[in-house]
Amino acid sequence: MTWIPEAASNLASKVDGVLLVITLISIFFFVLITVVLIYFAVKYRRKSEDEETPYITGSEPLEIIWTVIPSILLILLFVYAFVVYKDMRTPPKDAVDITVTGKQWLWTFEYYNGKKTLNELYVQQNRPVRMVMKADDVLHSFFVPAFRVKQDLIPGRYTQLWFTPTKIGTFDLFCAEYCGTGHSAMLGKVVVLSPEAYDIWQNGVATDGGAVASLPPAELGEKVYKEKGCNACHSVDGSVVIGPSFKGLYGKEGKLEDGSSYTADENYIRKSILEPQEEMVEGFQPVMPSFKGILGDDEITAIIAYIKTLK
Ligand code: CUA
Repeated sequence: MTWIPEAASNLASKVDGVLLVITLISIFFFVLITVVLIYFAVKYRRKSEDEETPYITGSEPLEIIWTVIPSILLILLFVYAFVVYKDMRTPPKDAVDITVTGKQWLWTFEYYNGKKTLNELYVQQNRPVRMVMKADDVLHSFFVPAFRVKQDLIPGRYTQLWFTPTKIGTFDLFCAEYCGTGHSAMLGKVVVLSPEAYDIWQNGVATDGGAVASLPPAELGEKVYKEKGCNACHSVDGSVVIGPSFKGLYGKEGKLEDGSSYTADENYIRKSILEPQEEMVEGFQPVMPSFKGILGDDEITAIIAYIKTLK
C-alpha cells in the first residue's frame, strides 16, 4: 500500500487494519446505495404527464432490516476498534521511558540513560518505548505517521504514548497541533537503530547522538542550525522571526533590555546559546530555551563559525 505512510511500528498494521475495514465497508455501502439509487431513478421515473405516484405507507420488515444490520455492524466495528485502541493505550511492562518535552518550537528528549537530544529521537528496533510527554508552554502534538501514533502534549500534566519500532531507519516527526508562529518548523526525526548501533549510540559521548560527521565548522554549523531547530526562530536572510536574524550578527553592536550594550562576539553568542535569558537584546521576548547539555562545545563553535559566514 503506497497511499499511506510506511508501516514501521507494531501498532501500524493494527491501525491500518481498522482503517481498511472501515474503508471497505464504506465503499461497499457507497457502491450498493449508488447503484440502487441510479437503478430506481431510471426504473421508476415518471413516464407520462398524468402518471400518479403510488401511495406507500412503509414496510416493517424493511425497517427492521435497515436498523438491525447497521447496528450490528457498528457494534462490531466499535469492539474491533476498541480492542486496538486499548492495545495502543496500554504500554507493556518492559517498555523503556523516554521523556519528551514540547516547547515553542522544538522537541527535547531525555533518555533513561541520562542522554538528551534535540529534535531527534533515538530508539532501538523491537524494544517497546513509552513516551512520557509534557509541554512547557502551549499544546503541541507528537505525531509519527510511520508509527501511526499521535498524542497531545499538555502544559501542566503528563500524557503518554507507546510503540515498538520495527524497522530500522529515519522517520518524520511532526507537531500536529497549531502552536504559534513556528509550528510548521517544529519538525523532528525518529531514528530507529539496531540493538548494536543503539549500544554504540548509548555509550557515545556526543550529545547529538553521534550523528555529527566531521564537516568543516561552518558547514557543521549550518547543519546544526537546521537540525537543532535554530531555524524556527532565527533567520539567515535578515528577517526577524522570533529572535534576531543570524545575518550580519557576528560583530554587531547594540543595546540589551537592561540598557547596557553588547557586542556579538564569540563569547556573547556562546552565552546567548547557553543562557539565553541572561543578556536579552532590546525588543525581543525571553522565549528561548537554554541549550546547555543539548549542544556540545564543538557544535556551538560550529554555529558561531556559521554565523560568521552570514555577512
Ligand atoms: Cu508545536 Cu505545533
